[in-house]
Amino acid sequence: MSKPRKFYAPGRVNLIGEYTDFNGGLVFPCAINRGTSLQITQDNSVSGIALSSEDFDFKTAIEFDGDIKPIDREWVNYPLGIVVEFVKLGFNSGSNGLNKLRFHYSGDLPLSAGLSSSASVSVLTAVAINELTGVGLSAQELALLAQRSENSFINVQCGIMDQFVIAMAEQDCAVALDCSTLMYQQVPLNLGDYRIVIGNTNQPRNLKGSAYNDRVNDCQSALKLLAPVTGAEQLAHVTPSQFQEHSGLLTDPIIRKRAQHVIEESDRVNRATIALKAGQLEEFGKLMQQSHKSLRDDFEVSSETLDCMVDLSMKTEGVIGSRMTGAGFGGCTVSLVHADAVDHFIQSVGGGYESQMKLKPDFYVTTAVNGASEVST
Ligand code: GLA
Repeated sequence: MSKPRKFYAPGRVNLIGEYTDFNGGLVFPCAINRGTSLQITQDNSVSGIALSSEDFDFKTAIEFDGDIKPIDREWVNYPLGIVVEFVKLGFNSGSNGLNKLRFHYSGDLPLSAGLSSSASVSVLTAVAINELTGVGLSAQELALLAQRSENSFINVQCGIMDQFVIAMAEQDCAVALDCSTLMYQQVPLNLGDYRIVIGNTNQPRNLKGSAYNDRVNDCQSALKLLAPVTGAEQLAHVTPSQFQEHSGLLTDPIIRKRAQHVIEESDRVNRATIALKAGQLEEFGKLMQQSHKSLRDDFEVSSETLDCMVDLSMKTEGVIGSRMTGAGFGGCTVSLVHADAVDHFIQSVGGGYESQMKLKPDFYVTTAVNGASEVST
C-alpha cells in the first residue's frame, strides 16, 4: 500500500425507539453529518498496526497474532475489539497483509454524548479491515461483527441499532429496522419545513457498562414472566394489549415499568414510521414526546439536564417534538424544529439551559447521510 487510504463512518441520531433493539423491537435512527475519519498509511518502522487518535494521547501497536486484551478504559479498545473479531474469523498477520500500517483516527462527533462515537469507530475499523484484506463481508455482516465486539470485548450488552445504521444508512433516509429479523426499510425523511436539531447537554454521558447492562437484565426478568403466557420470544414482541392483560404477573414495580416502556416504545416506532410516510409530522412529534416521558419515568435513563433541555425545547415556538436520544444518562436530545425557528430555538433553548444547568450546550442542525465507506482521495 503506497498511497494513504481514507475511510469515514458517521455517527447516528435515533429519532425514536430507545432500548428496544436488544429486546427484538423496532428502531428508527439515521446517520448524521458528523463522524469519524480514519487515515491508513504504510510505515516500515511499525510492526503490526499502530493506533493513534487526534483526540486522545494514548497510542498503542498491535500484532494480529498476539494475545489482544482490553486496555483499561482506553479508546483503542474499539479498534482492538474489531481486530479480535477478525482473528476469530481466521485472519492472522501472515495471511492478511495487515502489517506495517498506521491507523490514525480523527473526527467531529462529540464523545460519550449518545451519538454513537464508539460504534462509529468500531464500524469504521471493520469496514477498513474488510477493504484492506479483501475479506468481502457485507455491510450487514460488518455491523454484526462490530456488535459482537462491543458485547464481548467492551462488555456492554448493546443491541444492533447503532452498528446497523452506521453501516447501512442511506442519504436523506432513516432506517426502520426490526431488530429481531434485521428486516429494514430506508424511509425517506420527508420532513418538509422541519429540521432535525440535536442538542448536546454537554453533560458527559456517564454510561457505566453496569447501568446499561442492568436494564438488559431487567428486561430479561420481565420476559421470563411474560413469555409463558404470551408465547413471546422477545420482550418487544409482547403486544400492548397482552401487556395490559398480564402485567399483574410482574410484581416488582421496577420490572413492570421497564417492560411497559419497551413494549409501548416499539409500538410507537411502528406508529411513527407510518405517520412519517403519511406526512403526519405533528403525530410523529407527539410520539417523540411520549417516548421521552416513558424513558424518563418508566425506563429511568434520562437525566436532569436532558429533561431540562427537552422541556425548554417543547416550550419553544416551531418545535413539534423533542426527546432524549441514545442510551441517555446525559448526552443529547433530538428535536424537530421548523426551519424558520432554528436560530431562535438555538438561542432560546441554549440560553435557558445554560442559566438553569450552568453548562453551555451545543447544537447541531443535522442531515441524514450515507453509512461508512472508503473515501476516494
Ligand atoms: C446504545 C446502544 C444501542 C441501544 C441504545 C438505546 O446506543 O448501543 O444498542 O440500545 O443505547 O436505544
